[in-house]
Amino acid sequence: MRIVFDIGGSVLVPDKPDIDFIKKIAYQLVKISEDHEVAVVVGGGKVSRDYIQAAKTFTPNETFKDYIGIHITRANAMLLIAALGEKAYPFVVQDFRKAWEVIQLKKIPIMGGTHPGHTTDAVAALLAEYLQADLLVVITNVDGVYDSDPRENPNAKKLRRITTAQLVEIAMQGESKAGGSSVVDALAAKFIQRGKIRTYVVGKNDTINLFDVIRGKHNGTIVEPED
Ligand code: UTP
Repeated sequence: MRIVFDIGGSVLVPDKPDIDFIKKIAYQLVKISEDHEVAVVVGGGKVSRDYIQAAKTFTPNETFKDYIGIHITRANAMLLIAALGEKAYPFVVQDFRKAWEVIQLKKIPIMGGTHPGHTTDAVAALLAEYLQADLLVVITNVDGVYDSDPRENPNAKKLRRITTAQLVEIAMQGESKAGGSSVVDALAAKFIQRGKIRTYVVGKNDTINLFDVIRGKHNGTIVEPED
């Protein structure tokens, strides 16, 4: 299989880099890459939010702040490259076509952000579409897709199996609320639908066994493309 992993910054760098998690995930990614083609996109986490927040003091320019966020995601990508060792392409990949080329070299391409105006979820969805990946695995700080935000609604129910159209609907609900954020951002959900990408959304706990995750054995949500 060709698999794209989207590792949320809040999982990789919750407050500061989670070294234990990075070690474990890197080990498994290398093992998985022995039998599968693997590409990874990482997010910015708390560091990017702190930097963007600080920059608000000095500039109202949203695009400028997005560029700061992109730099931080790339620093996190460098950290994962270090943890992956020889198996990783040594530069942070900034272009989907380059990611394809790196896969042909039998290395793992690691990406952070690409352009202002979206998050790394959208980058991962586009990468999966471009690579015609068999699977996108989104590793996030919520353990799946819920019918409403579980951090706000204690009665929110986890959805075990949904279609890409349902994912778009749920992601749009999250976005329409001021300051609201959904587990997968709306633009990424749209790309997942457009690319007909089979997607698993899982929490940090499921990453104990990524081999099970890619086989569909996990406690998260399975998002299936429509015909
Ligand atoms: P993230 O993808 O990490 O956003 O990018 P996030 O929603 O905070 O996700 P988590 O918490 O890491 O899971 C951090 C910031 O970097 C900019 C945006 O400002 C984003 O909010 N960014 C990132 C871009 O502008 N373009 C990109 O391609 C990626």
